[in-house]
Amino acid sequence: MFVLKRRKSRIFAVLLFIVTLATLFFMYVCHVPWLYFFKFLFSPKRTCACGECLADKYDNWFSERFNQSISPVLSEKNILLSEDTYRWWLQLQSETDPANFSMVVKTLFQIIPNVQWYMDLGPLRCRTCAVVGNSGNLKRSNYGTLIDSNDFIIRMNEAPTIGFEKDVGRRTTHHLMYPESARHLENTTNLILIPFKTLDLQWIASALTTGTIKQTYMPVLPRITANRDKVLIYSPTFLKYVYNNWLENHGRYPSTGFLALMFAIHICDQVSVFGFGADKEGNWDHYWEKNYFADAFRQTGVHDGNFEYNITMLLVDKHKVKFFKGR
Ligand SMILES: *[C@@H]1O[C@H](CO)[C@@H](O)[C@H](O)[C@H]1NC(C)=O
Ligand SMILES: *[C@@H]1O[C@H](CO)[C@@H](O)[C@H](O)[C@H]1NC(C)=O
Ligand SMILES: *[C@@H]1O[C@H](CO)[C@@H](O)[C@H](O)[C@H]1NC(C)=O
Ligand SMILES: *[C@@H]1O[C@H](CO)[C@@H](O)[C@H](O)[C@H]1NC(C)=O
Repeated sequence: MFVLKRRKSRIFAVLLFIVTLATLFFMYVCHVPWLYFFKFLFSPKRTCACGECLADKYDNWFSERFNQSISPVLSEKNILLSEDTYRWWLQLQSETDPANFSMVVKTLFQIIPNVQWYMDLGPLRCRTCAVVGNSGNLKRSNYGTLIDSNDFIIRMNEAPTIGFEKDVGRRTTHHLMYPESARHLENTTNLILIPFKTLDLQWIASALTTGTIKQTYMPVLPRITANRDKVLIYSPTFLKYVYNNWLENHGRYPSTGFLALMFAIHICDQVSVFGFGADKEGNWDHYWEKNYFADAFRQTGVHDGNFEYNITMLLVDKHKVKFFKGR
């Protein structure tokens, strides 16, 4: 009797051992991370394949603002602007004699791809993103490797990397700009144009081909080095949605940094934010500058920097983004 019981429990132990070994082997072969495996077992309703997903935990404040059905970039599907959006968009930079919007966009999509980008949210996707702002708090931060470990690395405006790799990383998958802040890009980088007027859409078409437009309200690069198969246009509809839903109409329109962050939280499963806000001493300069009197960046009149920063911090509090505050 006693012997039988012992034999039974020994067989059970051996079986358990084999099952555990087989599971471990399976996980190893299929590169399933530990955490993912257990999370998958205990919460089958997950929205993405990362350890944690941006859309997973319900938050009332977030859901009231977040609308995943508005695409951040233009394609044939969302080319038509509502009357409301079009009028709002035209007054952003007080464009007085705009060209025909649908004609301009039609011409543009003969030059750049007409693709519905990033509508691939699902339980099999895990996309990690770093949004890298231009704050001086990146100086001596040593974030380079951490930033480069993301799937997408999103930068904006001038944002140099050469010579600053240790702190800001070397890879860039997406670069947001407008004509007046444009720079040349590498062939592997997606250019995301943020249009604030019809002329901006005409400019990108020109800058990728003939180079005829040399001036907006100031001189701009007539030609730009960039891979035209990787040019995306930030949607005016999305721009207005960010302004209305997220900024509650504060400022004239959102800053490039905030637009980059909003782009990320709508197409990524995990978002890390670098180079936003002031440095430890309260300076608001750029990481490539030695300018200690740049407090003017905070309130430029066009953007409400304080409100944007508040919303960013709320996103951090609600575990929607990770914030790296630098030095
Ligand atoms: C999201 O945006 C779409 C398109 O503008 C709109 O029809 C829908 O009502 C919005 N959803 C929410 C929850 O606001
Ligand atoms: C713009 O062009 C389209 C044809 O592509 C035309 O139907 C439309 O009326 C034009 N809009 C304006 C405001 O001229
Ligand atoms: C850039 O990439 C495109 C494909 O997207 C390729 O056709 C082109 O030759 C590349 N140009 C350079 C300079 O590498
Ligand atoms: C930012 O948030 C703080 C407290 O959460 C609040 O006191 C302040 O008025 C907010 N600032 C803006 C510009 O909304």
